[in-house]
Amino acid sequence: MSKFFALIPAAGSGARMGNELPKQYLSLNSRPMIYHAIYTLCQNQFIAGVFVILAPSDNEWFKYDWSEFSEKLVVLSCGGLTRADSVLNGLTAAKQKNLVDSNDWILVHDAARPCLTSIQLDKLINELSIDEVGGLLAVPVADTLKRSNIENRVTHTESRENLWQAQTPQMFRYDLLTHALRSTTNINVTDDASAVEALGFQPKLVLGDAYNFKVTYPQDLALAELIIQKRNNS
Ligand code: CTP
Ligand code: MG
Repeated sequence: MSKFFALIPAAGSGARMGNELPKQYLSLNSRPMIYHAIYTLCQNQFIAGVFVILAPSDNEWFKYDWSEFSEKLVVLSCGGLTRADSVLNGLTAAKQKNLVDSNDWILVHDAARPCLTSIQLDKLINELSIDEVGGLLAVPVADTLKRSNIENRVTHTESRENLWQAQTPQMFRYDLLTHALRSTTNINVTDDASAVEALGFQPKLVLGDAYNFKVTYPQDLALAELIIQKRNNS
């Protein structure tokens, strides 16, 4: 039987957030941001283990007490220069330690998406566990899309038909994901699915919701805080 594992790349610096402290450690409802994703993933009944991929130079992680997650949480300090490198290094390290099998499912989830819910996670796993390829949470594009020239003048309005915004978790089997990331090292891959697509596969889009947005800019922090606060109070 294949198992399910989560892998959280958390080796980024959060340049667009503009804070010296990497954004995954910024305080969100009295916890470092990354705590929220770890909590949701560790709570899930299907997920056998959660790997967190840190930058080798990270010493912030060790300032917090993570013991509530016991052995389900595994820290791998092998993050790379890009997100794709961090994911691939994490996958390789987990295999070297005999923690995963080639056929296991890996759910890659950004540390910067603290508002993932158990409902979305269960839906993703249920819809994809019998899929040939795998897939990801995503939401249909709601806004009208404009293409611009270098002077920020509109040259074209793009159709939003069949356009989706990719989120995480992105769920693929260990072998396919590792092979895809190894094959695309010189392509600009900003998510796991695009590496799999480059091999000619068609990942499945599983309808998520806008709450699972990625905290990227300073104003996103307040929004994430409100969402989590509201959930805790209801
Ligand atoms: N990430 C990573 N290793 C990298 C770059 C990014 O593990 N070399 C992780 C981030 O820590 C984050 C996720 O990938 O959890 C999504 O990336 P992003 O939101 O772009 O985070 P940063 O790269 O840290 O932010 P920025 O692009 O603004 O610098
Ligand atoms: Mg980045």
